[in-house]
Amino acid sequence: MPRRTLIAGTGSYLPERVLTNRELESMVDTSDEWIQERTGIRERRMAAPHEVTSDLALAASRQALEAAGWGPEDITALIVATISPDMPMPATACLLQAKLGATRAAAFDISAACSGFIYGLQIADGFIRSGIHERVLVVGAEILSRVTDWQDRTTCVLFADGAGAAALRASGPEENERGIRSVSIRSDGNLWDLLYIPGGGTQAPQSERVVAERLQFIKMKGNETFRVAVRTLEMLVVETLRDNGMEAADLALLIPHQANIRIIQATAERLGLSMDKVMINLDLVGNTSGASIPIALDQAVRAGRVAPGDHVLLEAFGAGLTWGSALVTI
Ligand code: UT7
Repeated sequence: MPRRTLIAGTGSYLPERVLTNRELESMVDTSDEWIQERTGIRERRMAAPHEVTSDLALAASRQALEAAGWGPEDITALIVATISPDMPMPATACLLQAKLGATRAAAFDISAACSGFIYGLQIADGFIRSGIHERVLVVGAEILSRVTDWQDRTTCVLFADGAGAAALRASGPEENERGIRSVSIRSDGNLWDLLYIPGGGTQAPQSERVVAERLQFIKMKGNETFRVAVRTLEMLVVETLRDNGMEAADLALLIPHQANIRIIQATAERLGLSMDKVMINLDLVGNTSGASIPIALDQAVRAGRVAPGDHVLLEAFGAGLTWGSALVTI
């Protein structure tokens, strides 16, 4: 049996400050009822003014290392999935590396928005199975509150802050039934303008115009994105199970990207999976993009909802457009 990539430990961090739907009612023309009914979100977390993305990543990483029994110098590759980096350059992964003391690691960021953690898993899986790296830390970390337009009710009720991390290593001779069974990632750049941040890059460099036109913030065609997400995710999860010779009944838990309860319900329904086999935290966490899946994974592990030997399906969809899934035996 060839070696697999095993999840040795997970961690997550949510900032202390809670922002409720009721508070949003006083900021934009919305209501707690609308937000709950259309999205499933009740409250979300906001980073403190002094916190930057690598701080959130640091707290999640320390937990994952502790769970894995690793020191920071054990990591040989450190990957951060984020669309809200500390700064355009260097990579947030390098800033995290310095804070963590992961002196031996090659550190870099990936930009695949809400699918970023799944993209990171595929890269880590390739590194580990090929023997290039033994121990990889994949982190998803976001402070979306800083790239959200607080005057735009169609987006500001959705996005939130947080970080999650997974420590990955090669399975040992007795562990080859565990680990990542498959990861699949896809994208369609033709649909880039469904969800994007127009300003701050080479197309519209930071300027007074960017600020005046609010181009530094997330723009989303929510309804179109929703429809593509439902269609794509339904196909993706069915394909993933089929490719692994499994059925939905074999799954202990589905861990979806936490974007919208209605998207999650549609995916579960397509699989014939009851909602008690679906990890949901978006009511309290909101949409944390690249951090969404690793936070949900860590919460599921710590709550005892998954145990070694359990099959878990991870799936995500986001800006790019990008999407991906992973079938993992914990
Ligand atoms: O994470 C990455 C991928 N992102 C996603 O997957 C997000 C996908 N999209 C969604 O989750 C949903 O499309 C939203 C939650 C963003 C919006 O829900 P929707 O059911 O698609 O609403 P809609 O955009 O079709 O808007 C329906 C109505 C509109 O009013 P009119 O034109 O019918 O009068 C909106 O202006 O709801 C209005 N609306 C709001 N009303 C109260 C939009 N946002 C709000 C709001 N509060 N916050």
